[in-house]
Amino acid sequence: MIQRAMMTIIIIGLSTGYGFSNSTSRHAVTSPDGSLSFEVLLVSGTPFYRVVAHGISVIDSSRLGFRFRNKLPLMDTIAIREVVYSNHDETWEPVWGIMETVRNRYNELTIRLVEEKEPFRMFDIVGRAYNDGVAFRYILPEQEHLSAFEITSEETEFRFTDDHQCWWIPADYDSYEYLYSRSKLSQIKAVNTPITMETDTGLLIAIHEAQLVDYAGMTLKNENGKSLVLTSELVPWPDGVKVRGTVPHTSPWRTIQIAQSASRLMESQLILNLNDPCVIEDVSWITPMKYMGIWWGMHIDKYSWHMGPKHGATTKNTKRYMDFAADHDIPGVLVEGWNEGWETWGSSFNFTTPYPDFDVEEIISYGRERGVSLIGHHETGADVGNYESQLDSAFAFLVQNGIPAVKTGYVGRINPDGHHHHGQWMVNHYRRVIETAAKYRIMLNVHEPIKPTGISRTFPNMMTREGGRGQEYNAWSEGNPPDHTTILPFTRFLAGPMDYTPGIFNITFDEYKKDHRVHGTIAKELALYVILFSPLQMAADLPEHYEGNPGFQFIEQVPVTWDETVAIDAVIGDYVIVARRSGDDWYLGCISDEEDREFEISLEWLESDTRYTIETYADGENAHWISNPTALAIETGSVTCSDTLVLDPAPGGGCAVILRIDE
Ligand code: NOJ
Ligand code: CA
Repeated sequence: MIQRAMMTIIIIGLSTGYGFSNSTSRHAVTSPDGSLSFEVLLVSGTPFYRVVAHGISVIDSSRLGFRFRNKLPLMDTIAIREVVYSNHDETWEPVWGIMETVRNRYNELTIRLVEEKEPFRMFDIVGRAYNDGVAFRYILPEQEHLSAFEITSEETEFRFTDDHQCWWIPADYDSYEYLYSRSKLSQIKAVNTPITMETDTGLLIAIHEAQLVDYAGMTLKNENGKSLVLTSELVPWPDGVKVRGTVPHTSPWRTIQIAQSASRLMESQLILNLNDPCVIEDVSWITPMKYMGIWWGMHIDKYSWHMGPKHGATTKNTKRYMDFAADHDIPGVLVEGWNEGWETWGSSFNFTTPYPDFDVEEIISYGRERGVSLIGHHETGADVGNYESQLDSAFAFLVQNGIPAVKTGYVGRINPDGHHHHGQWMVNHYRRVIETAAKYRIMLNVHEPIKPTGISRTFPNMMTREGGRGQEYNAWSEGNPPDHTTILPFTRFLAGPMDYTPGIFNITFDEYKKDHRVHGTIAKELALYVILFSPLQMAADLPEHYEGNPGFQFIEQVPVTWDETVAIDAVIGDYVIVARRSGDDWYLGCISDEEDREFEISLEWLESDTRYTIETYADGENAHWISNPTALAIETGSVTCSDTLVLDPAPGGGCAVILRIDE
């Protein structure tokens, strides 16, 4: 899959006596385009790093190191053993994604460090400078004086140089399901990543992590309160230890994505590039797809998950969903509440025993005749022991029944008690599930997950996940305000795809719940299919809410994986305009917050000398997310690259566009 790869390695320093105390030594790498640099400094035996972007210091000298249980800290009296520079340039093809090929080009620096005094432990810092950001990680190499270890604190600092505007969710060791806050950096106490910042000069900076494997998830805290310094705070085990392991052991990458505009930030592929290439040889079974589900009905109280008069997961109802899906080219139907255990939850979930009113064999053969697959569901209730004890049989059951994908869920407190969703123990569990799914050739959609850190490059069967505040909140909480989806692409989605579940057409669903609703228009729901990338993408509403609505034609047509992405314009929290190409066809999504807006969009990115048919799905006359959310105007026309497209989303509205080359 690698088309081109190049690497040079230069070892420039090798010291035998560690005589660097009381001195400062600096070693830096610069991005291929020269705009970003990552520098490691050793100041009187203490390691620091710095980041410079476009001539401006964005991260000032920030500390690096660890504290261990029953061992001295590893952060001072350090000397350099060796410095290795290398570079890399490769272009790889993702199995699915927002572009057909990804260029992975960086300059790298490895600084091998050792303590100058006993116990002479060693660690390495690896730094990389890409054109779209920098990253660094720690390696605890194989060595004589360190074997098993327990990290009690990773001492990584991010010392910012100004009180930037930030978009963030609070640090929570078990959930990312929050609305984003916007505040100055100094107002932040503790956050989950990604956290995104904008400088006064308009530079965008996002902090996250990549390749989170056998390590605890990282939150960031403002240790001294009101400062400009965020410090790594890893999610603990029940006894307070953060990471247990034996050498050699590698930390995830600490990532700093940097872009000169919100649009360029959205296009960054840094997180994927920092992960290992695909390890699955035959990827033919990994098939991005749209799906419907017996799902929204439970959230709006039309159906129940457990068996009873309102049971959603019946054979008859599943066939009804499959009929609609088959008629509208939707290849998958998710069914929740199909298995024993929902009455008592947790340890009673059984992943191979359907409820008596759910006839798996009949459903599968019904779907097969119509070209529709069943998508499985494993709600674990966070009883991870119970799930692990059934893991093989649960996945074997999916395979036996020809089920190609499964949605998993971890609602509630983790059992065994004291563990957190985002701690090392759960990171390892989620990873085991990905590997098990790969072994059985099953695609995954994980809810209540660990945040994405690019693992889908290595395991592209890890399709999508929740790990954010999705559509479901509109069904039973105060909901997601109109600006929520204008923030997600620059925060949560920097980490990877999300199963947001767009496509609610019955915006107010008054028949079921008078006090809840979606905070947007139908046209905006359609635009989300282009903006919120997910290789498993749901048409979330009930079939009867789609029946007869011509707007569904957009959902039928919109692809779920892309050959090219052009972020046209965006202001975080205000509006987003994105165009994506699949083959020769372009799709464009435009969404607004609660403001009424008008945009003139040059179509210069279309093929020249080519005429396109344009289909627009726009907010209709007097549309407004509060008073008139369902007015949809569908129009067709003809354009070329010299035309300008005028889009005028209503307050809380949007617009979805298809551009197809004329035959
Ligand atoms: C929470 C998930 O996010 C939601 O999609 C699912 O329906 C429920 N858990 C039940 O498993
Ligand atoms: Ca959830």
